[in-house]
Amino acid sequence: MDKFIIHGGIPLKGEISVAGAKNVALKILVASILTDEEMVIHNVPQIRDVFFMLEVLKVLGVASTVTGHTVRVVNKHKEHAKVPLEVGARLRTSSMVMGPLLARYGEATTPNPGGCRLGARPIDRHVDALQEMGASITYHSDDGYFYGKANGLHGATIRFAKNTHTGTETIILAAVLARGQTILENAAEEVEIDDLIACLNQMGAKIRRESPRKIIIDGVSALHGTDYSIMPDRNEEVTFAIASVMTGGDILVRNSQRQHLDAFLQMFTKAGGRHEAINNTSTRYFHDGLLHAANVVTASYPGFMTDWQAPWAVLMTQAKGVSTIHETVFESRFSYVSELKKMGAHIEFFDPPVDNPEAFYNFNWGDRVLGYHQGIRITGPTKLHNAVLEIDDLRAGATLILAALSAAGESVIHGVEQVDRGYENIEERLRSLGAKIERTKEE
Ligand code: EPU
Repeated sequence: MDKFIIHGGIPLKGEISVAGAKNVALKILVASILTDEEMVIHNVPQIRDVFFMLEVLKVLGVASTVTGHTVRVVNKHKEHAKVPLEVGARLRTSSMVMGPLLARYGEATTPNPGGCRLGARPIDRHVDALQEMGASITYHSDDGYFYGKANGLHGATIRFAKNTHTGTETIILAAVLARGQTILENAAEEVEIDDLIACLNQMGAKIRRESPRKIIIDGVSALHGTDYSIMPDRNEEVTFAIASVMTGGDILVRNSQRQHLDAFLQMFTKAGGRHEAINNTSTRYFHDGLLHAANVVTASYPGFMTDWQAPWAVLMTQAKGVSTIHETVFESRFSYVSELKKMGAHIEFFDPPVDNPEAFYNFNWGDRVLGYHQGIRITGPTKLHNAVLEIDDLRAGATLILAALSAAGESVIHGVEQVDRGYENIEERLRSLGAKIERTKEE
């Protein structure tokens, strides 16, 4: 177990490159099950979730070699189609192997990925859709595994009742080798999905996004290997943009994806943040005056993503006035609030009025537990002070780092392994911008 010690109050300045997207890398690694040929994947971030996924794949017979940011994966043979609980439970995306395993081998046993502190996080939409393609999947609550069988998956017209990002990808990963055509309606629009599609098409799949929320997949009999470079991580860029403004700094972000950050940039500009396009792939983030309160409602792409609301909250502690955040995708994604309050932030929970919550929210309304709130109200500006903080999920972790970087004095942050799940070598990269941040072992 590691902790970070951060001396805040230093404006972050300089250049930083955004790493490859976690939420693409994990899915493209899963695609290795679909072919017997080698895949060479470039721009893979060296983060814990990637290494956890490589362990999941290893039990399934996929060998890997990591050289810097290039990962070579080859599906040697089917050792068995079961992911043991102790390997699979480390990351939610381990459940995504179910589609490819069913498509190729007709069987899959995967552990219930469970909740990742953002709420219940069930996979009912994935399971229902795979069943529509001919799979039979039963959940055994006594051992916590899903047992799947299929006598050759077939295409189907599937309409997700609600948006699901990884659900959309799971079905794409199954449908590429299914018999016939699969039509996915109400498919998620995240650009990371399109990067996965581009990679699969390069492997010989036939997938097209017919309209923003409709994806058509024509099954093929086999996929071949490929050499693919994954897109940069949009969530990292947002983190660095906020880091710049929070610390009164000036950061040039390389490998910028600002063309896919409209919803963020709109709010950022409204709140007083500034950005300047230096060239196609470089964006400068800074601010030159007061920050203003703003209200955000999270949504799936192309809306203001749920992954951005935690770092956004810390930015709003510095804005003049009352800001609100209405979280609509996950039922419990405010774990960082108690920690920010330790630093002096003025934040209170509230329940935004919603006419038909069952239809409105992206999560299953029934998964909500007494005491959850979907909104927070932040009153600012507040000068944050140092504190001893505890991280309990990835984006919340990045948020606490941002808060500590801008706060006066020395903060200690425990549980940094959560940040290592999604941000590569964050402390060294922040140090290159002038931050005073050290990693030490917990005693
Ligand atoms: N949901 C269900 N049943 C399902 C599927 C989803 O109830 O079968 C619920 C979820 O619990 C959630 C909502 O529906 O409340 C939306 O879930 P979705 O499937 O869209 O999200 P996800 O696939 O679990 C991915 C990313 C998240 C990101 C969201 C939204 C990956 C590995 N994860 O999660 O990323 O926040 O989409 O874009 O791609 C992160 O990177 O920190 C992260 C959490």
